[in-house]
Amino acid sequence: MILTLCGFMGTGKSTVGRRLALETGFDFIDLDDYIERKTGRTVREIFSSEGECRFRELERDALREIIRKYAPGNHSAGLVLALGGGTVTLPECARLIKGHTRCIYLECSKATLVSRLAKAGGKRPLLAGKTDRELEERIENLMNEREHIYRDCADRTVRTDTGNFKEVVEQLCGLIRSCDI
Ligand code: S3P
Repeated sequence: MILTLCGFMGTGKSTVGRRLALETGFDFIDLDDYIERKTGRTVREIFSSEGECRFRELERDALREIIRKYAPGNHSAGLVLALGGGTVTLPECARLIKGHTRCIYLECSKATLVSRLAKAGGKRPLLAGKTDRELEERIENLMNEREHIYRDCADRTVRTDTGNFKEVVEQLCGLIRSCDI
């Protein structure tokens, strides 16, 4: 089984994913890390030298590759895959996620995201170099564009506002154990 974690930047996809993989014995892949290893460049470098569209193509290619590798019959281990915040925006990626994975949407209020990303948004090209007000507007706009896609892709939604990722992981382990995902 491939379990994908989708959601906005700062919702805890990588942290939750890594811990969930440890608890379940599943493999773990962070899609941004995978692309960085494959291309030998950071996400920021790819955005600045080739632009967002090229990055989305790289995300799509990586997603295809990972899904092929973990297809039933090819690979016995389960996989937890932390997507990037914008992976779902390419319709083909949304189709792949819905057709080949069980997807969990990590949901957070805009207020929580603004406060988390004001502290840790700098390394993300789509949020870099913004004043607090610009950051808030950017997050609001992107969330308005994306929220319905996250919901459409997701089989389950879990809130991560409290930042208590241990509790989130326990909740997800419960769903997996009871085959409720
Ligand atoms: C992006 C989110 C980032 C990364 C890139 C673009 C987005 O991943 O893929 O900076 O469009 O929301 P995280 O959600 O892991 O920060």
